[in-house]
Amino acid sequence: MLKTIFNIYAFALFANFAYSRCGWNTIDGNPPSLVGHKGEKAFMPEHTLGSYHMAALEAVDYIETDISISKDGVLVIVHNGWLGQTTNVAELPQFADRKKQYIFNGKYAKINRTEWFVWDFTYAELKTINRIQDTDYAYRPQYFNNDFYILTFDEYLDHIENLSKNLDRQLGVALELKFSEVFNSLFPSDNGRGYEDKVLEVLSKRNYNINQPPPSNPVINNGDLLDHILNIKPSNYTKSSYKPVSFLSFDHETCEYLGKKTKIPVISLNLNSPWMYTPKGLDKIASYSKILSPEKNILLAGPELYFEFNEISYNKTEIESMGGFLEPKELIRESHKRGIELSPFTLYDSRQPSGLLCTRFNDTRFKYCPKNRKEEMFYYFELGCSYITVENIFEAQILRLAFDSKIASKDC
Ligand SMILES: *[C@@H]1O[C@H](CO)[C@@H](O)[C@H](O)[C@H]1NC(C)=O
Ligand SMILES: *[C@@H]1O[C@H](CO)[C@@H](O)[C@H](O)[C@H]1NC(C)=O
Ligand SMILES: *[C@@H]1O[C@H](CO)[C@@H](O)[C@H](O)[C@H]1NC(C)=O
Ligand SMILES: *[C@@H]1O[C@H](CO)[C@@H](O)[C@H](O)[C@H]1NC(C)=O
Ligand SMILES: *[C@@H]1O[C@H](CO)[C@@H](O)[C@H](O)[C@H]1NC(C)=O
Repeated sequence: MLKTIFNIYAFALFANFAYSRCGWNTIDGNPPSLVGHKGEKAFMPEHTLGSYHMAALEAVDYIETDISISKDGVLVIVHNGWLGQTTNVAELPQFADRKKQYIFNGKYAKINRTEWFVWDFTYAELKTINRIQDTDYAYRPQYFNNDFYILTFDEYLDHIENLSKNLDRQLGVALELKFSEVFNSLFPSDNGRGYEDKVLEVLSKRNYNINQPPPSNPVINNGDLLDHILNIKPSNYTKSSYKPVSFLSFDHETCEYLGKKTKIPVISLNLNSPWMYTPKGLDKIASYSKILSPEKNILLAGPELYFEFNEISYNKTEIESMGGFLEPKELIRESHKRGIELSPFTLYDSRQPSGLLCTRFNDTRFKYCPKNRKEEMFYYFELGCSYITVENIFEAQILRLAFDSKIASKDC
């Protein structure tokens, strides 16, 4: 029933497009884009030439990365500031004394850990450290441990641009600015946004057209997803000079700064801000962000249950005054009305636990609980999410094709 309402809504909105009622429920009727989390980390150590290359070969749409800053101010690719989990630093005696407790209690960045932190290493030192498969994932292939080094932001962009050219496939870059508060306090600047500005400077130098809005996507008709994946272009296809790029951040102020300063789409990542999942919250987000990226359980269990099970408290009166919580289907409808697309994170590969609340807690209030990765992926496809952040791109690609074929074959 709701799906029907959904499709009628999408049909009315895009009646001027060749749009099928049985098509994808995304804002533009296109299949959702797949975003490779740190490249293809299901098989390769994350954030390496190998993980990005593999992601490109699996025909991913965007390759996500995380930008940090070394002690001497070089933008480098490191996920969450510490190195022990994804490199061989613990085995290097020359760096034994760099392992330290670091406490940062910001509004968005909260760190309390004893680790090797990227900002205590110069660029030259980082180059002597090798990447390994994330130690949290012992069952993932370990064959490529120590084969790759830590990349700079420029090397990441070089590599993606090289791959785009060599494979004749326009790969998008998705740039996460992780700990803005930490980097802006370590590297102070006049406007307090030195970290964001440093990233923008690199993009400008490399002609990323930061002031040009992205062109609207050509509509991929039902059943044409395979052509898209195989990179088969229609005969009248003209290559765009626009290099697809987007920003991601958990820090609302970074999102707002980037969203107001540039025309690059900003993805607002979130797992703990109840106000965002209300009509007035979406109004606020729409003023700077085109894409809302909630922790996936928010789009499955709904905000109320999600915040209850994660013990995140909030002011109920305030939520009511902002229009109350929007349940998943309303949330996507209200987001689309405001031009916001949805991008849940993260859909893991089927060898690992799903991370779904409904499988961790047995509670009858969870209305639907996917039983496997296919059901999970299909749920987010059906809902109309425009971007899906995945680990194991290959698996996600097959499921996206399966869903496309399912909706294309329906008798509308
Ligand atoms: C940091 O974590 C340690 C160990 O978990 C804990 O004992 C300590 O109280 C924490 N410090 C702060 C400031 O949160
Ligand atoms: C990109 O291609 C250029 C030209 O072939 C090459 O010099 C450079 O090493 C490549 N960089 C990466 C990171 O692949
Ligand atoms: C290419 O042709 C298709 C139909 O064959 C048409 O729908 C589309 O608008 C054309 N695209 C361009 C860029 O001319
Ligand atoms: C909750 O929000 C309401 C409305 O914004 C405000 O009047 C009230 O003081 C808040 N209560 C608490 C405990 O912060
Ligand atoms: C879940 O809870 C219901 C009702 O409390 C109970 O009957 C059922 O056995 C439980 N299932 C599991 C897997 O624990």
